[in-house]
Amino acid sequence: MVTVRLSAMTSWLGDWANLLLRWAHFIAGIAWIGSSFYFIWLDRALTTPEHLKPGVEGDLWMVHSGGFYQVEKRRPGPGEVPAVLHWFKWEAMLTWITGIALLVLIFYLGGAYLRDPSVSGIGRLPAIALGVGVLVVSWPIYDGLWRSPLAKRPAVASLVSLALLAAVTVLLCLLLSGRAAFMHVGSLLGTLMVANVWERILPAQRQMLAATRAGQPADFTLGERAKQRSVHNSYMTFPLLFIMLSNHFPATYASPVNWLVLLLLFVAGASVRHAMIGRGSSSRWALLPAGLALAAAMFLSTPKGAAAPATAAAADSVPPFHAVRAVIAQRCQPCHSQYQSDRTLGPAPGGVTFDTPESIARLAERIRVRAVETKTMPLANKTGMTEEERALLARWISGGAPLR
Ligand code: HEC
Repeated sequence: MVTVRLSAMTSWLGDWANLLLRWAHFIAGIAWIGSSFYFIWLDRALTTPEHLKPGVEGDLWMVHSGGFYQVEKRRPGPGEVPAVLHWFKWEAMLTWITGIALLVLIFYLGGAYLRDPSVSGIGRLPAIALGVGVLVVSWPIYDGLWRSPLAKRPAVASLVSLALLAAVTVLLCLLLSGRAAFMHVGSLLGTLMVANVWERILPAQRQMLAATRAGQPADFTLGERAKQRSVHNSYMTFPLLFIMLSNHFPATYASPVNWLVLLLLFVAGASVRHAMIGRGSSSRWALLPAGLALAAAMFLSTPKGAAAPATAAAADSVPPFHAVRAVIAQRCQPCHSQYQSDRTLGPAPGGVTFDTPESIARLAERIRVRAVETKTMPLANKTGMTEEERALLARWISGGAPLR
């Protein structure tokens, strides 16, 4: 009895930890990405002032929330240290800390989403070691590459980076569950982005400031080099944000070629970024690869049979509802019920229970997507659903999901 209460207690606490971390992660992420987009925009919107002041590179008037603002971009001269200088750094760090905490909570401590026996037979500890290992080695490899002589040829270094990313994506998708693989690629990108801020951009700013403080002219090429990393971050942002949403879209992570879907969406997101903030209208060409990659990803993630017109099943082949209900009771209700026997994933996972005939019929379309097309339910097929049972559900749903 005590152990039951204890586990109910820890799962309740786990749920709240999950909620609060997600909330904080979301807020910090918005603050981080929002401010970096703002500065990208600002840099491009700056105009040359009428009366050029020494050190001023551009200025801009803005109006927002009823206030007028004038911003000047300038290089501080020797000895010219502003009394108050705002740094943008904690947004990135907090996003990373809350993100890694979520990864550990959901995939390593919870564990339900980490592995999928239909993908590979990897053990729990090797899977965790793989996930952590990928995150730990990614930064030294990426950073080393972009500090090596190869970085003098950005096109080559970019291609090598993309090839490495593709290799990691394939590896993760072959060994972990689709959603865990996607989320680890996202965590990898996020880790590179935060490390770019803290290990490359902030130190360069610190060095320039130290020179200014010492009354010497700062070496502003440091800032230009740091800018390269900030450009990298901007290319990673859109793909990363897709990955954060991907768990809601099983068709993407459950596709048999989910690694290719992810890489195509990476290309689409990064190309849209290029068209949006690349220089001038000449970068609009990037919308073409973006569109092609998106179309290919949509095609590849189309569940089998979804594109074919649903041929109405002959009336006599539509299974009776009691047969459907028996399957749902055995394979789904252990989790999806008010009276669940499997409480490991909290009450009514995904907000779904199948306790009444109406609730089953109402969710028929979702049942088709999750249990027939993407086979992402039952979760990791924990309840051992068979192909025949999936086919039975499919026939019932295409027959109009009748309650008799
Ligand atoms: C081991 C527990 C477990 C079992 C068994 C299970 N589910 Fe789920 N289900 C979950 C969890 C966890 C979520 C929320 C995460 C997600 O959406 O992937 C969920 C979410 C859902 C959702 C809501 C999200 C959406 O895509 O609309 C549906 C529908 C669903 N499951 C259908 C089913 C069906 C049908 C079965 C039986 C064939 C089933 N589940 C068996 C754990 C389970």
